[in-house]
Amino acid sequence: MTKKEAINRIEFLRKALDEHNHNYYVLSNPTITDFEYDMLMMELDSLEKKYPEIDNSTSPTQRVGNDSNNNFIQVFHKFPMLSLGNTYNIDELKDFDTRIKKIIEQEFDYVTELKLDGTSISLTYKNGILVQGITRGDGVKGDDVTANVKTIRSIPLKLKGNDFPDEFEMRGEIVLPHKEFDRLSKERIANGETPFANPRNAASGSLKLINSAEVAKRNLDCYVYYMLGENLPTKSHFKNLEKAREWGFKVPEQIKKAKNINEVSKYIKFWDTERFNLAFDIDGIVIKVDDLDLQEELGLTAKSPRWAISYKFKAEQVETKLLSIDYQVGRTGAITPVANLEPVHIAGTTVKRASLHNADQIELLDIRVGDYVFIEKGGEIIPKVVAVNKEKRPENLPKVEYITHCPECKTRLVRDEGEAKHFCPNEYACPPQIIGKIEHFFSRKAMNIAGAEATVKMLVEAGLINNIADLYSLKRDDLLKLERFAEKSADNLLESIEKSKTVPYHRIIYSLGIRYVGETVAKIIAKHFKSIDDLMQANQEQLAEIDEIGDVIAKSIVSYFKDEKSISIINKLKEAGVKLYTEETNKPKSDKLKGLSIVISGSFEKYSRDELKKMIEDNGGKNQSSVSKKTDYLLAGNKIGPSKLEKAEKFGVKIISEDEFLEIIL
Ligand code: IVH
Repeated sequence: MTKKEAINRIEFLRKALDEHNHNYYVLSNPTITDFEYDMLMMELDSLEKKYPEIDNSTSPTQRVGNDSNNNFIQVFHKFPMLSLGNTYNIDELKDFDTRIKKIIEQEFDYVTELKLDGTSISLTYKNGILVQGITRGDGVKGDDVTANVKTIRSIPLKLKGNDFPDEFEMRGEIVLPHKEFDRLSKERIANGETPFANPRNAASGSLKLINSAEVAKRNLDCYVYYMLGENLPTKSHFKNLEKAREWGFKVPEQIKKAKNINEVSKYIKFWDTERFNLAFDIDGIVIKVDDLDLQEELGLTAKSPRWAISYKFKAEQVETKLLSIDYQVGRTGAITPVANLEPVHIAGTTVKRASLHNADQIELLDIRVGDYVFIEKGGEIIPKVVAVNKEKRPENLPKVEYITHCPECKTRLVRDEGEAKHFCPNEYACPPQIIGKIEHFFSRKAMNIAGAEATVKMLVEAGLINNIADLYSLKRDDLLKLERFAEKSADNLLESIEKSKTVPYHRIIYSLGIRYVGETVAKIIAKHFKSIDDLMQANQEQLAEIDEIGDVIAKSIVSYFKDEKSISIINKLKEAGVKLYTEETNKPKSDKLKGLSIVISGSFEKYSRDELKKMIEDNGGKNQSSVSKKTDYLLAGNKIGPSKLEKAEKFGVKIISEDEFLEIIL
């Protein structure tokens, strides 16, 4: 065979094997026998080995992986990988529908899909070729697992057809089907290894194996559920998935359009029982607004899109006896009642304690000590009490009297309006709050100070520190007086504290432990207020104006900075040299929009909404989320909601088009 003939034959074999792969793994409809398939594969493999100069990166022979070790590089997602809000009953779903209808005042369709219970993946395709597979990670950056992903036969390495965008991402779920899970479990037990707790753990564990040849043997499967990028084939999520199917992806055949929430509800009811006949696990249903422009109009909250939600199926329940109730005090002073239970087995573990949430929940379920209760283990690690078996209730069980005072410091508890939880207000003197706040400050995602939890407790109990700022005046000699500290460990701690002074500003905001200010909110705040002084001066209105920050968070931040003890802590942190500002010199490029507040609504032709928002900030303007009398311009795109227009007219706000806006700033 001449080289030219070999090249032709290689091309032919690759094409044929790709087709057979697709028939077998995506369509479940093989047209040749396994033996015939193996023969073609062997022929291709030997030709490729003979001509190693011919690129084989997308060849079907690559599906078997290789024995070289993967070391996963962390990479940023081009578009963050969001999670979904959860609902557990039809009423909550109706609330979701109502929220959407408040924003978009036109007819629209939903798409209903299975919520596959595996591990999510983002696949990037350039010119129809799979170039990268990234795990979800923290949603912003994940592990590059391309080599492992390539072994999954239902993921196309090369797309069929030619009408795909030059570059786009396909998001999906990698699952281990029941059959493979059972096989793997048996194999692991036979080898004396611990089997995986469930197919989800097995899928994510397999995807992170360092040897891709091992991954290939696990027979993972991948279903895709979302397409992302510019120049997508259509403006309909449903149609895009149909396109993806044409290009060779495995799109679950169960996806369906729904005209309204009643149809969604029918779909849920059907799958609630039918799910047990599927080849893989699902833990719920996902409901999405079909139209991509409307999706953009609805936008995102801090962590999840407003245009989609999941409906979670009920988890496994077991019954056991409630022996007593403890009350735990968290770092923010929140009181959580915890049930002590007669030990019981659920979802692979023995459970002795379960959350009772709050006083309302105890009252609502009428839970009494001595009752037989049902407990449930959902997605969360901590199980919860969900119902009481009243038929088994012994006579004369007294109602639970909820505590009125902190179990730790005896301060009278408070409960703010609209709050489900009781709080101990003794923020700076209640021991678990003092310790909890400092432990939070130490934690990896906060200031990342090396030291075990026991260290914090010991330092507090020895009277060396009482709040986070005290850490920066710790003396080596004081530490050495403590039993646990040798010179080396004292130096390590002090060095680590010194190093913490320069962690990025948004992490310091998170470290302060302000109620409701988690990592995501801290990042948003840091973007808007470049120094702690700016933040301290912000009022509730200004904070709530920021997209993704609601009244509750705004109120909590303002009340934190009003407290004199917080102010004194901040001052001490400043004196110690903690970097309470961002170095990002994100100065506006012009001041053409200085002092102007602008609301963006609708979808645009030339730029995306995020790009326009950035332009507003770059030119000294401020983005507002809703039209008020303080708004200067309403930047109106296509399909803008009539309520925004009405408001603009009512307040005399000037309405400008994308082109008019561009004229102002260019
Ligand atoms: S849509 C912005 N659709 O559920 C779009 N997610 O909390 C967000 N999942 O980690 C995801 N099946 O891995 C979507 N049909 C489906 C899904 C699905 C499973 C997973 C996904 C994500 C989690 C959402």
